[in-house]
Amino acid sequence: MAPDPRRLLRRPADPAAYPTEPSDDEIAAMAGRPVDEIVRFDLNTLGGGPLPAVAAAHASFDTARSVEYGDQQYAAIRGRLAAMLGVSPERVAIGAGADELIRLVTRLVAGEGDAVVIPVPTFGMFGVEAGLAGCTTLQLPRHEPGLRQSVDEIVDAARRSAARLVWVCSPNNPTGDAYPLDEVAAIAAAVEAIVVVDEAYLEFAADSLGMATASLSAIGLQPRLPNLLVLRSMAKAYGLAGARIGYLVVPDWLAERVNAERLPLPVGSHTEALALAALADEDGAADRRRLIVHERARIGEALAALGWQVLPSVTNFLLVRPPAGLASVVAGGLLRRGLVVRDYSPDSSLAAWLRITARAPHENDRLLAAVRELAAEGGLAGS
Ligand SMILES: Cc1ncc(COP(=O)(O)O)c(C=O)c1O
Repeated sequence: MAPDPRRLLRRPADPAAYPTEPSDDEIAAMAGRPVDEIVRFDLNTLGGGPLPAVAAAHASFDTARSVEYGDQQYAAIRGRLAAMLGVSPERVAIGAGADELIRLVTRLVAGEGDAVVIPVPTFGMFGVEAGLAGCTTLQLPRHEPGLRQSVDEIVDAARRSAARLVWVCSPNNPTGDAYPLDEVAAIAAAVEAIVVVDEAYLEFAADSLGMATASLSAIGLQPRLPNLLVLRSMAKAYGLAGARIGYLVVPDWLAERVNAERLPLPVGSHTEALALAALADEDGAADRRRLIVHERARIGEALAALGWQVLPSVTNFLLVRPPAGLASVVAGGLLRRGLVVRDYSPDSSLAAWLRITARAPHENDRLLAAVRELAAEGGLAGS
């Protein structure tokens, strides 16, 4: 008999896959509703449709550009981002979403058996990529969803495990809170590991706090902390989740190496054109984010008035706890109405919680009306 070809794989064991979300079509089938009635409050994308500048760039995109390869150096977009961030273009690496750069960083830094420290709950890809790379993942749980791990806990975990990589998601998905920069700096200064700060939601934090994004970013710490990398995404704050673009800001000493390890052309010229247009109209993007941040506060107040626990958030989403034990009842009731919120498996530390993205006002109205309807049906009585 021929030998089992699975032995030819580098790691024969079945790695844990990233849990994919059901598509709109699948949701529509589950809910028994037309697909155009489905609203995704579960993916943290930008409510309100494409930014006007992005829609205009799409309409005027010359499809002849799709026939040819784009600029492998990404000079235009890297130059624009570098100017915005106050760093040299060499320090900016472009990827097909932050996801791709999570893979790049993981594989650059850690391999078979190396420890990766991940404060949880957080964005799942850090752990998935560490697992795929054969790393030992050290998940450091919160004592409560609203109480982030202390600097000492993270540093101790990194030191004890001789970790090569530490993830800090700030603001954190799904809890919505951010690590103050002095905590990020203290972690990076105390560990002998690469520390990556995932700032996928940072622009919302800036708009939430009425501050400049730059003043909240760990990029400003990089000159004195050479082991600190910063990851950003244009999926959320600029509404480009489907276009796929993120970027990594590395210190000078790492720029050439990252350039050598990246894919030549992960992002297409259409996406690059949309991203350039979004960045050229920062006021338009900021206006939209302020609307979303306002809507987030409105949803939070309405749910708190119904007796739900609502964690403070500086992002475009909320982590909320409906009255005792009713998270899955709420999620199910909303789903039947075509409204999808993020729920968690019964064995998760977040089993009693839901994550809800603030979207456009009329969509949020639909969500709140549905929650009130469920409450009136008697399904959501608090205990
Ligand atoms: C914290 C965090 N980082 C990264 C990503 C992935 O971003 P992208 O769509 O750019 O791959 C997400 C998406 O949900 C996220 O929540």
